[in-house]
Amino acid sequence: MRKRQLGRCGLEVSELALGTWGLSGEAYGPIPEGEAERVVDRAVSLGITLFDTADAYDRGQMERILGKRLPVGRTHVVTKIGTNLDDYPVKQFDKQYLFMAFERSQERLKRDCVDVVLLHNPSLKTLSTDEPFELLQKLKDQARIRAWGVSACSREVAEKAIDRGCDVLEMAYNCFFYRDVRALAVRMRTEGVGLLARSVLSYGLLAGHWTAEREFYPPDHRAERWNQDELKRRVDQTGALRAVVGGQMPTMRSVALRFALENERVTSIVLGPRNPTQLDQLVRDAGRMPPYFPRGALARLENELAARGVTGD
Ligand SMILES: NC(=O)c1ccc[n+]([C@@H]2O[C@H](COP(=O)([O-])OP(=O)(O)OC[C@H]3O[C@@H](n4cnc5c(N)ncnc54)[C@H](OP(=O)(O)O)[C@@H]3O)[C@@H](O)[C@H]2O)c1
Repeated sequence: MRKRQLGRCGLEVSELALGTWGLSGEAYGPIPEGEAERVVDRAVSLGITLFDTADAYDRGQMERILGKRLPVGRTHVVTKIGTNLDDYPVKQFDKQYLFMAFERSQERLKRDCVDVVLLHNPSLKTLSTDEPFELLQKLKDQARIRAWGVSACSREVAEKAIDRGCDVLEMAYNCFFYRDVRALAVRMRTEGVGLLARSVLSYGLLAGHWTAEREFYPPDHRAERWNQDELKRRVDQTGALRAVVGGQMPTMRSVALRFALENERVTSIVLGPRNPTQLDQLVRDAGRMPPYFPRGALARLENELAARGVTGD
């Protein structure tokens, strides 16, 4: 498993990370008993050293599983705080709440030092307040965390997080949605910000297995994400990936994964498998080292995307 430096914070992590939102049974619907544990164990055995979670995923259950299954010296954990499922408003970033949430996460993860703590989808307004940053800096000074950052749901939020001195950003980045990351790439490089790229399959769409008639049902978040016309448009656009399949990229999945890995600003891509088979496919299709694309293939992909009206935002 190839490793990359997580920005300036000195951590070396696998370029493939395991995400745990889908394993929580909330995001994409139920997961069989014991499946999350099996995926985590398989990831460790495949050499994945970075694991992404949040206190909100199944109310801390994903953190508990990581706390039980991960070998501490050989793995690193990213968690996210700022979602209080027992209160209103759900999003809370005041110092007192964040400290309590951090201590609970730390206990569940069973780590003296949590590698990376991210604010979980804060608003721009939240990032204008000093409280969360005072707390995160204090935790870092006390060596209870190694690095902190923001899971950002917009370019403005990500930019503000860089202004506030974040070590790490987590952002959506894939063949259909790339403009935000590209717009901030120079700042990330000059300021040494590590980037965790999530949703690299655009929630499964880019794997190329769907028809335009595919239906989703709650609690699968995709039930709310696209109406029928939009889904049809998106499925048609995946033809751009199909057009460059071949050789070292035998599947559309491999094109999607390599698109994200090709960007050297990306430290790790956060994979979202729902079972060990999907994880094996993702690890196999990602490739092991650069160049991720054969000569000329990235330019061809970008032309195909543009020809189908994909604008990257
Ligand atoms: N705000 C945040 O901080 C935030 C937001 C989103 C995600 N994340 C993190 O990023 C991780 C990944 O995000 P994501 O769920 O958006 O990722 P994604 O990789 O874009 O989509 C995951 C979905 O892709 C499909 N898939 C996975 N492996 C596949 C395979 N081998 N072949 C075909 N389809 C496959 C599965 O859906 P089907 O098989 O049902 O089609 C799966 O639920 C999450 O687990 C979480 O840790 C963080």
